[in-house]
Amino acid sequence: MSDVIRTDLRGDIAIVRIDSPPVNALGHAVRAGLAEALGRLASDDSVRAIVLVGEGRGFISGADIREFGRPAQAPSLDVVIDALENSAKPVVAGIHGVALGGGLEVALACHFRVSTAGARLGLPEVTLGLLPGAGGTQRLPRAVGPALAVKMIAGGAPLSGEQALAAGLIDEVVADPTAGAEAFARRALAEGRSLRRLRDDDSRLAAARADRSIFTDAATAATARNRGLDAPRACVEAVGWALDLPFDEALVKEREAFQRLMKGDQSKAQRHVFFAEREAAKIAGLPEGVRPRPLNRVAIIGAGTMGGGIAMAFANGGVPVTLIELSEAPLKRGLEVIRKNYEASAARGGLAAEAVEARTKLIEGAVGIDKVGEADLVIEAVFETMAVKKEVFAQLDAAAKAGAVLATNTSYLDVDEIASATSRPQDVVGMHFFSPANVMKLCEIVRGAKTAPDVLATAAVAARKAAKAPVVVGVCFGFVGNRMLGVRGQQASKLMYQGVAPQQMDGVLTGFGMPMGHFAMADLAGLDVAWRSRQDHGESAPIEDALCEAGRLGQKTGKGFYQYAAGSRAPLVDPEVETLIRQTMERLGLPMRQADDAEILERLVYPMINEGAKILEEGIAARPGDIDVVWLFGYGWPVFRGGPMFYADQVGLKTIVERLAHYAAADGDTSLEPAPLLARLADQGKTFADWRP
Ligand code: 3HC
Ligand code: NAI
Repeated sequence: MSDVIRTDLRGDIAIVRIDSPPVNALGHAVRAGLAEALGRLASDDSVRAIVLVGEGRGFISGADIREFGRPAQAPSLDVVIDALENSAKPVVAGIHGVALGGGLEVALACHFRVSTAGARLGLPEVTLGLLPGAGGTQRLPRAVGPALAVKMIAGGAPLSGEQALAAGLIDEVVADPTAGAEAFARRALAEGRSLRRLRDDDSRLAAARADRSIFTDAATAATARNRGLDAPRACVEAVGWALDLPFDEALVKEREAFQRLMKGDQSKAQRHVFFAEREAAKIAGLPEGVRPRPLNRVAIIGAGTMGGGIAMAFANGGVPVTLIELSEAPLKRGLEVIRKNYEASAARGGLAAEAVEARTKLIEGAVGIDKVGEADLVIEAVFETMAVKKEVFAQLDAAAKAGAVLATNTSYLDVDEIASATSRPQDVVGMHFFSPANVMKLCEIVRGAKTAPDVLATAAVAARKAAKAPVVVGVCFGFVGNRMLGVRGQQASKLMYQGVAPQQMDGVLTGFGMPMGHFAMADLAGLDVAWRSRQDHGESAPIEDALCEAGRLGQKTGKGFYQYAAGSRAPLVDPEVETLIRQTMERLGLPMRQADDAEILERLVYPMINEGAKILEEGIAARPGDIDVVWLFGYGWPVFRGGPMFYADQVGLKTIVERLAHYAAADGDTSLEPAPLLARLADQGKTFADWRP
C-alpha cells in the first residue's frame, strides 16, 4: 500500500486520493502509488468507475521539480498517464486548488474533468524553461483548440475553473471536487456515456488544419515579448505537431524536446530561480515560533513616485491604505496619478472597471503624519535626505500606535540612524521597493541592528500581500541591489572615460538580456540628481557635467546620453553626445581606445559578482540565491541566466577570479581585486551554490 495514495470505495465507484503535502507533486512515490492503484482497480470487478482527487491545497502541482536532472525512477509519468487514458472504466478528475503542469496532464488523460470555479488549471512548464513533457502539448490543443492551447503553453498562465469550462477544458464546475466528480461518474455510468480519450479526438484541430493562421496568429501573439528564451519557441513548435503529426509520433518528439530543454542551461537557471525565490522568502536566523504582527491597514508617508506605487501594490492585494502628504496639493496630485494609472490598465484591458473603483477606494488620502491612526504598518517614502527621514520618524514615534511596524523605503540611507530618531528602534525596518513599485516584484527588507524578529516577519508578510518577493538584507550603503549597481556604474563610467561608447556598453547589457543598459537607465532616472550631489560635494565628472550643463538631463528633457523622440522612451544614439565625449576626452588629454563586447561584458558583470561575494561574506545577504532574486526581480536580470551568482557558477569562479585580477592589474584598479570569498571558493574548485556561511 502507498503512503501517499489512498483508495476508498463508495459503492461501485473508487475514489483515489493523492495525499502528498505540501502540493501533491508527482514525485516517485505518487507515480508508483497511482500506477499500483490503477492496476488494482482495473481488475476489481466491483469497481465500475474511478474518481481521482487531490487532498489538501490542490489537485496536483505538477512533476516534482526536485527530481529533474536526477536519474529517472520508474514508473515514469507516461506510464500513469497511459493507464488513466486506456482505462476501460471511466475516470473522472475532481480538481480544486491547482492542476498545473504534469497535474493538468494527468487530468487531460482522464476521460472527464470537473473543477471548482476558483481552481487554476494550466501548463506553466515554460516558466521553468521547459515544455509540457507528458502529453500536454498534444492533449490540450485537442481539448481547447490550438489557438488557446498555444497561448496557455507558451505563456504559462492558467485558466480559472470558470474559464476552463468555457474553453472546453473541463466538463462541469462543481462545489466540491470529490462529491462533484463522484456525481458526474454516476451520471456517466447511468447514461452509458462513451469515454472521451483526447488522443483519439481531433475535432478541435480541424479548423486550424484548414486555416493555419488560426494557430500561427495565436503563436505569434504568445511569443511577441519573448526575450532570448528558448522554451516559448519550443512550446509553439510542439503545439504545431498536434496539427501536423500523428499523436504518437508527436508524443515522442515532445518527450525528446522536454529532455533537451531540461538538460539545457536556460531551464537549469529557471529552476534555480523557482527555488531561490521560495528560499529567499524564508528569513534566515529567525527564532522558532516567531509570529508576524497583525496587518490590517498600511499608512504610506509621501505620495510621490514611490509612495503612489506602493499604495497601488497594497490596494491590489486588497489591503486598505492611508496615503499621507504634507499638504493638499501633492496629495491631490498623487491620488490623481494613481487613478490615471489604474484607468490606463483598464484601457489596456488589464483591469475591470469595477476593479479600478474598488482599488482606488481602498486608498484614502490624508494630510499630516498624525493621521497614521490605527495603521499596523507605516511605510515612509519621502525625500532621500537623512534629516527629513529623521524628522518624519520622530513624528511617527509620537503618532503611530504601539506595536506598529515603522518602515523606510530609503534607497541608500542608514536604517539604524533613521531608527535612532525613535524611542522604538526594534519596530523600525527597511522596506525597499523598486520603481515602478506597483510593477517591480522585489522588496528588500532591511534588517537594522535592533529590528525585532517579529517585525522582520511582518515586513515579509506585508511584502507578499503586495505581491512582492521579499529578500532580507543587512544595512550598508545601497543594500544589495544598489550597491552592486553602483559598482557596475563605476566600471561603465571608467570605460566611457577610456573612449568606449555608452551605446556599445548598453548594447552589450541588453544583448546579455538586461531590459536596459546602464546609460539608458541613467537617462530614465535623470542625470541631475547625481550632478547636484557632485556639486554639493565639490566633485566633478567632466562628461556627465557637460551633458547636464547642455540641458541634457535625461528622458525628462528629451535628451541625455541619448536623444528621445517626442513621447517615446526609446533611446536613440545622438551624434552630439559622441562629439561631446570626444571633445571632452581631447580637452582632458585622455587617450581613446576600443574594447570588444566580450571584454565589456566581463568588465561590467564580473565586478558585480565580486561585490556579491563581499556582500555574502559581510552577511548583508544570507544566501547567493537571495542576491539572484534581488537582481531578477529588482533590475530585470534575465531569468534564463538565473541571477548574477548563479551565472558566476556557470562561468566558473576560477575564470572570474583570473579576469578580475587581470583587469585590476591592467587598470591599477584595486577595487577589481578578487574578494577573499571569491578567491577562496575558486581556489577550492567550489561554487557559490556550495557556499555555507
Ligand atoms: N515540485 C517540487 N516542489 C514543489 C513543486 C513542484 N512541482 N511545486 C511546489 N513545490 C514546493 C515548493 O518548492 C515549496 O517548497 P518549500 O516549502 O520547501 O519551499 C512548497 O512546495 C510550497 O510551494 P509554494 O511556496 O510555491 O506554495 P504556494 O501555495 O505559494 O504555491 C503552487 C503553490 C501554485 C503549486 C506553486 O508552488 C507552483 O506554482 N508550483 C510549480 C508549478 C509548476 O511549475 N508545475 C509544473 C512542473 S514541471 C512539470 O510538471 C513537467 C511535466 O510537464 C512533465
Ligand atoms: P518623490 O519626490 O517623488 O516623492 C516624495 C514625496 O514625499 C513628495 O510628494 C513629498 O511631498 C512627500 N513628502 C516629503 N516630506 C514629507 C512629509 N514630511 N510628510 C509627508 N509627505 C512628505 O520621491 P520618490 O522618488 O518617491 O522617493 C521617495 C523615497 O523612495 C526616497 O527615499 C527614495 O530614495 C526612495 N526610492 C526611490 C526610488 C525611485 O526610483 N524613485 C526607488 C526606490 C526607492
